[in-house]
Amino acid sequence: KPPVKEKESSKKSSNTVPVLWKCSMCTFDNHETMVYCEMCGVFRESFVKSGKDVSIKVESVNGISNNSGTSALSNSDSTKMPAKTSTTNFDGDSERKYASTSHDKVNSTQLASVGSSSSTGKKKQPVIFDNNVPIERTTQLNADHFQLKEDQGSSRASSSAQNKGSMETLSSDISQLSIERNNVNVAQPLPEEYKPEGWMLADQESGVLSQLNLAIVGHVDSGKSTLSGRLLHLLGKISKRDMHKNEKEAKEKGKGSFAYAWAMDESTEERARGITMTVAVAYLETKKYRVVLLDSPGHKDFVPNLISGATQADAAILVVDASTGSFESGMDGEGGKSVGQTKEHAQLIRSFGVEQLIVAVNKMDAIGYSKDRLEFIKVRLGSFLRSCNFRDSAVTWIPLSAVENQNLIKSPSDARFTSWYQGSCLLDAIDSLQLPSRDVSKPLILPICDVIKSQSTGQLAAFGKLETGAIRNGSKVLVLPCEEVATVKTIERDSSSCSIARAGDNVAVILQGIDGSRIIPGGILCHPGFPVPVANYLELKIRVLDIAIPILIGYQVEFHIHHVKEAARVTKIVALLDKTGKPSKTAPRFLKSKQNAVVQVTLDQAVCVEEFSKCRALGRAFLRSSGSTIAVGIVTKIMRQDQH
Ligand code: GTP
Ligand code: MG
Repeated sequence: KPPVKEKESSKKSSNTVPVLWKCSMCTFDNHETMVYCEMCGVFRESFVKSGKDVSIKVESVNGISNNSGTSALSNSDSTKMPAKTSTTNFDGDSERKYASTSHDKVNSTQLASVGSSSSTGKKKQPVIFDNNVPIERTTQLNADHFQLKEDQGSSRASSSAQNKGSMETLSSDISQLSIERNNVNVAQPLPEEYKPEGWMLADQESGVLSQLNLAIVGHVDSGKSTLSGRLLHLLGKISKRDMHKNEKEAKEKGKGSFAYAWAMDESTEERARGITMTVAVAYLETKKYRVVLLDSPGHKDFVPNLISGATQADAAILVVDASTGSFESGMDGEGGKSVGQTKEHAQLIRSFGVEQLIVAVNKMDAIGYSKDRLEFIKVRLGSFLRSCNFRDSAVTWIPLSAVENQNLIKSPSDARFTSWYQGSCLLDAIDSLQLPSRDVSKPLILPICDVIKSQSTGQLAAFGKLETGAIRNGSKVLVLPCEEVATVKTIERDSSSCSIARAGDNVAVILQGIDGSRIIPGGILCHPGFPVPVANYLELKIRVLDIAIPILIGYQVEFHIHHVKEAARVTKIVALLDKTGKPSKTAPRFLKSKQNAVVQVTLDQAVCVEEFSKCRALGRAFLRSSGSTIAVGIVTKIMRQDQH
């Protein structure tokens, strides 16, 4: 189990037995190099022995590890992402309880692209303009790592850039909090009873590559779309005809240099402005993976859109512009007085749980393929990445030129480059990424991100990412919250139909035997024998962010959880938690900034929800009010009305 793994891997680099520090909020054992908890995001403050024979030696908590290269956690300690929905303006109207995911505008065309093969195999992610979209961090761990007990809960600090600064560690002895078993509308059998079928576990579709969700992030104009377009072109995903058309039209509009970017930037506005605004999704295959490329916008106005894409990522490519002054702007903003999006994006994707990073140092042609410039960038950005808790061993540096096609899918050819560079090309670096572990051995959970109407068939499809389990054509699924059983008719993934989808896959599922109107965003498709609770009385452990108005009993909030938002009110403040995590004061009258507390909330209408300890994706909650996040937390108990 984790402590043993840690011990073994770190022995190589040090005589001192390595340390795991136990998160005081969620009890997860974190690697010593982590400044904040891998699982819940709470910052480290105190160090707790995690095993009998583990000695504690902590030299620094600044996140810069001396031996990070040799003691990296196993890759089974994986990351993954929920399909992110936007939180469109919430008006408290209970009819709008399930979050519209903003797919609506694009959906009619989107499903068409799921089924039909476009020349680029590319489609657009939803446009999300809500600057207050909170950032969801989901770190998926394999079953071995998932050690939370029922009487243990956790709170996560906000992972948004704004809130990050306000995070501080709050120790908490969560075992003090009694957590009762679920008592909700839908009875839940014990997980032990579940036995996955053979087809669910192994990929039996011969020749089918594993899916890797790869976000392309970085400062505006660093060349993300050009790089993505060029990769697609080189790998034969863009037809000659389309490429020719893009080149011709871009030239006519005086935007010749954007020809490859136009493969990603399809809207008139994006093309006219020369910037990406929404996340473009494209598919390509490497030797090892079926890659879902999520080309994100770099402009700071569209950070919420980036969030939507990057939360789905297993790994990321951070594109930086090597040219003089541009790299600096990416780090310190225009004029060097703020935070550029190279830094902001790196921080964001790390807070979502993305651990593996390829830094594509682009536009090497603009600096004459200078090795010195690359080294300078590596030192400056490298130390920043370490401070964000990227491990050195999980960061791969690939210098390249998207425009001159140097070091993309094969070794460079320019003599100025080859004279000093012998490393990997970008495509090989992508193949070297590790696939996060997928929880296929648990019962199916597919949170519905959106419901899309197929233009070709007119049928409704539930769109979302399988959190756990697997489905195949003919599988019976329980549709929640309507509690009706339906049959999987077809599954579509990456622009084509497939017979099986497993945890980690983003799919559109067409169901039969159910009225389409019963399938709603924010609902869940799950195993009929293992229904997800549907409840509206919840106990949460929360961390209050910086707020101007104290939270009182009766406080109205927007309750957000996976793809749902629902009007709610705080009905009870059970206890304040002190620094040691023990309830310091029961039934306080109000909560103020930076306090940790156990609260109960009543939702206007029941939502699909799970305790965090059982399913992280369904148990992370956040409370918002007047357009900003006021508290983040986890669901620790699902209650019946009479318990409330
Ligand atoms: P946003 O999506 O708006 O953040 O921009 P982006 O990162 O997608 O950049 P985009 O691909 O739109 O490229 C911006 C400009 O950089 C275009 O004019 C490209 O031609 C140019 N560019 C991209 N890659 C290279 C490169 O390798 N070398 C040079 N010299 N220019 C490049
Ligand atoms: Mg772009």
